Amino acid sequence: MSLFNHLITSAEEKFEFAEWWRLRKESLVNGDIGIIMASREGTPAGFITYLVQDGIGKLEACHVLDVPERQDIAVGLLERGIGLLRKRDDLMGISGELYYIAGSIDPLAEYLRKEGATVYIRVGMIRALDDTIPVHVLPKGYSLREWTFNDIPEVAAFFCQAFEDSIDLVFWEHFDHLEKAITYIENVASSTVWSHVPLTNASISYNGQMCAATLCGVPEKNKGAIYLGVIREHRRKRLGSFLLAQALTAFKNASFKTVGLEVTHRNTAAYQFFRNHGFRDSHRLIGYTFFSR
Ligand SMILES: CC(C)(COP(=O)(O)OP(=O)(O)OC[C@H]1O[C@@H](n2cnc3c(N)ncnc32)[C@H](O)[C@@H]1OP(=O)(O)O)[C@@H](O)C(=O)NCCC(=O)NCCS
Repeated sequence: MSLFNHLITSAEEKFEFAEWWRLRKESLVNGDIGIIMASREGTPAGFITYLVQDGIGKLEACHVLDVPERQDIAVGLLERGIGLLRKRDDLMGISGELYYIAGSIDPLAEYLRKEGATVYIRVGMIRALDDTIPVHVLPKGYSLREWTFNDIPEVAAFFCQAFEDSIDLVFWEHFDHLEKAITYIENVASSTVWSHVPLTNASISYNGQMCAATLCGVPEKNKGAIYLGVIREHRRKRLGSFLLAQALTAFKNASFKTVGLEVTHRNTAAYQFFRNHGFRDSHRLIGYTFFSR
């Protein structure tokens, strides 16, 4: 019997949930990885995966088929995932992200809040690159340059500051310590460099201080991703518009078809900014954290 068949034949009530996990100590620090699956009468309905890394339990991907009960199934999967991780006494906390492409995300957020999680909602936005990208002028006194791998410590310190007041705690994990930010930026930037998309990673300085920057990546073939930050005192001076147009043009010249990004739901400034620059909603994502018990 295949693993999948084994999972979906362990039935209970209306939906059947089955769990499978294994140790992967060779590749993760105290890392386990696992999957919980839901099925009905032997037909798969969805799954959620989890992993344990650095003492934090993370529920990673949640996919539910497009059936009327998808919210129930998603909550059921989440409930089991959290229950499973909570049983462990070696974890400092639980966090995760859930993609939820269609339908209301309220029941999931409601369930997580009821369980005591801090919940964040992020909006995925996308923009096609088939129009003419507007040209912006750099305001007087500011200088532009492309940053490279050697600049990453400075760029990481910059993003930790620029993102301080605007991104959510789950995503913040990458940007709350300089060292984590450096590792994260190295990973994202290497995908761009590897794909040979020039001029996407740029910074603007004023009196020798970095005050705006982009960090671009290539998460999928033909699709670019953009992070953009401007230090508070330099906002509303068109620096963001300038760098965004620069990155969009670079991706377009490299024959990319679309560019995507995510903003925290409550970050209305960034949401409005990207809408004004042609981005539209593509998906929503729930991020959540249970702090250490
Ligand atoms: C979003 C952000 C990059 C915009 O950069 P910026 O240099 O201030 O933006 P610009 O001056 O080029 O463009 C301003 C336009 O965007 C919109 N906008 C920017 N800030 C806004 C705000 N606080 N409220 C409403 N609209 C706003 C407006 O349309 C504005 O035009 P206006 O000034 O004529 O009204 C900047 O606010 C920022 O760094 N925020 C924190 C980091 C972040 O949220 N990054 C996005 C996630 S990757």
